[in-house]
Amino acid sequence: MTTRKEDIVIIAGARPNFMKIAPIIRAMEKSPLLRPRLVHTGQHYDDSMSGSFFRELGIPAPEFDLKVGSGTHAQQTAEIMKRIEPVLDEISPRAILVVGDVNSTVACALVAVKKSIAVLHVEAGLRSFDRAMPEEINRVLTDQISDFLFTTEREANDNLMREGLGAEKIYFVGNVMVDSLDYSLDHAISANQTIVDLKLPQNIQDNYTLLTLHRPSNVDDEVIFTCLIKTISKISQTTPVLFPAHPRTISSIKRFKLESYFEGSNFYLLQSLSYLSMLGLLKNAKFVMTDSGGLQEETTALGVPCYTLRDNTERWITVTQGTNTMVGTRSEKLLNAYDDYCQGNLKCGVRPELWDGKAAERIVKVLEDSLVESK
Ligand code: UD1
Repeated sequence: MTTRKEDIVIIAGARPNFMKIAPIIRAMEKSPLLRPRLVHTGQHYDDSMSGSFFRELGIPAPEFDLKVGSGTHAQQTAEIMKRIEPVLDEISPRAILVVGDVNSTVACALVAVKKSIAVLHVEAGLRSFDRAMPEEINRVLTDQISDFLFTTEREANDNLMREGLGAEKIYFVGNVMVDSLDYSLDHAISANQTIVDLKLPQNIQDNYTLLTLHRPSNVDDEVIFTCLIKTISKISQTTPVLFPAHPRTISSIKRFKLESYFEGSNFYLLQSLSYLSMLGLLKNAKFVMTDSGGLQEETTALGVPCYTLRDNTERWITVTQGTNTMVGTRSEKLLNAYDDYCQGNLKCGVRPELWDGKAAERIVKVLEDSLVESK
């Protein structure tokens, strides 16, 4: 009988990874059989994109920090691969756990599988069916080389099986992002407090919408981005818009000279916010406009209406069951959606199956049952 704990390397690299690994580490630390060994690739490195999430989510300091930083996709992916290899050689883990669809996910999975280390993919099987999205490539490739595929919705299981992956590898466990949300909700920084801290007008605290944009297809394209900003500027004339912006987005605003839309208006451009500040603003928002996958899920979990400014989504369950409406990037469709909101037509939804705050516990149970006994 095994008494020694099995080492599981956990990879985190970019902002949307941190809220996914936090509950998994917490659940794994309670396991008598498994030991989490955290590696930060350094894909994101600013305090606002990384450090603040570690503090607010109570994630322990990583044992290894690969400090890869930014670069082209090829440079970043290659650098992560080069730097994770010696770490895996040193730890010689039983498995490596990767989450989501960022470059760190696919890079680390690829190195591990060639070393015959079991790959565990959390949030497997989501598909936008848009191969122009770098994340879609990362999702498809990571799933193909994973030994355990943990899914957030049943449709993801169907996607995986359609791609030839065996049902015996697939575990529908729910959504670890929602685990973090439920765990943190009581400690969220209130919208009121954030509005005071950011010196925004007090009278907007019960009447604002929250906007995030960071997809390259939206913010790196001058025509699309300018059109979105102009349209949302019109919306801000009647509903104040809070816009915490990703560093990529801030540089596009400068590059395309769009600063004037935020001067002396109800359109408030903010630096990116911490997890708990964002949660407080989300909870209280009239509605959300976004191109983020995570926010589509968080708004559904919170019951806040969401307009997704993309032509596709890999998270269809937020549309079919949750509060998400696909609006695209054209001005007319966004203004029509806003008219609907003004007339009180708000989408209500339900929380999808197993989005109950216990996904990480289920993952750890699967690993204890299969990974440890199969050794
Ligand atoms: C990455 C993920 C994306 C995810 C997003 C969340 C990939 C392919 N993309 O995109 O799926 O939705 O993170 O944020 O993995 N930068 C900073 N500070 C940082 C990090 C980045 O200033 O801490 C700036 C750099 O100028 C960098 C740019 O942001 O070049 C883009 O960062 P990058 O990690 O390349 O891609 P994201 O757009 O963040």
